[in-house]
Amino acid sequence: MGARVGTSVEDAARRLRAGELVAIPTETVYGLAANALDVEACLRIFAAKRRPSFDPLIVHVRGFAAVGDVAREVPPAAAELARAFWPGPLTLVLPRAAAVPDVVTSGLDTVAVRHPAHALTQRLLDALEFPLAAPSANPFGAISPTTPAHVVEGLGDAVAHVLDGGPCPVGVESTIVGWQDGRAVLHRPGGVPLEALEQVVGPLVPAAAGPAPVAPGGLASHYAPRTPLELGALDDLLARHAGRCLGVLAFRQPRAAHACRVLSPTGDLSEAARTLFAALRELDAAGADLLLAEPVPDEGLGRAINDRLRRAAAR
Ligand code: TXA
Ligand code: MG
Repeated sequence: MGARVGTSVEDAARRLRAGELVAIPTETVYGLAANALDVEACLRIFAAKRRPSFDPLIVHVRGFAAVGDVAREVPPAAAELARAFWPGPLTLVLPRAAAVPDVVTSGLDTVAVRHPAHALTQRLLDALEFPLAAPSANPFGAISPTTPAHVVEGLGDAVAHVLDGGPCPVGVESTIVGWQDGRAVLHRPGGVPLEALEQVVGPLVPAAAGPAPVAPGGLASHYAPRTPLELGALDDLLARHAGRCLGVLAFRQPRAAHACRVLSPTGDLSEAARTLFAALRELDAAGADLLLAEPVPDEGLGRAINDRLRRAAAR
């Protein structure tokens, strides 16, 4: 069988109206989409990803005006963030409206919402009568997909249709922001840098500081290659593991190893984010028995990259 990969928005819309799953391109990673208001369709997402039901989905809307269909209210600071960063890689956690089924929010009283910045998916959302629930289009816990080929490789026959929007330009998932006692809380670092958010709403509270629902992308082990991965100073790690068959993920400088990928020779964090998941996949397929990676500068998109590397290293 195998998935059909195509660029027809009409075809994708027809399938989604019929309750089927379609993998959709976004600026961050590919999503595995279903009608967010259809319980049966959303259950298919969990089955296809083998995702536990306690891990809620992100709802993709066609614009700020459509947020009212899925959220009861929008705190003023959330509206400011949406104005500043939508369409874009920012997800807002808001009080959920009754129309959103429990399966989407894992029974939480909040719903995660975003307006993605990808022309093809925007045309799809404009064509549809409902919003799209879509987690990343990969098996649960595995590396997120940034090309149609990654989606097919990971999900195989579990997804019948992929809307081909080319490689994802941001390359790491959206930043997730929620609210707690009127303060903005960072649930997951992502495609919108923390510094940019703070310019709009002031300092954010780290999620760990509060009793916020454990954001399940927050599970320690996630984004994991099959090959074990160690994170640290590369030269130390290379010395410690000398003689083993090593795959190396370097930020700027290549190293001698069985396989090596460099995220950005010029030290550009946007380029590093864009290439991160594809590089991890290539190293995972290179036949090494251990992968070594180094953290990047912990600023801007570097926070999201380091977060994904830490979770890839957690076992
Ligand atoms: O960039 C992205 O966000 C991509 C594209 C497809 O939009 N989506 C994505 O979804 O990365 P994923 O697989 O990470 O799953 C959604 C995550 C959950 O794991 C959880 O961390 C968070 O969104 N989430 C969803 N609803 C939430 C809620 N009500 N409260 C807190 N976190 C929530
Ligand atoms: Mg995911």
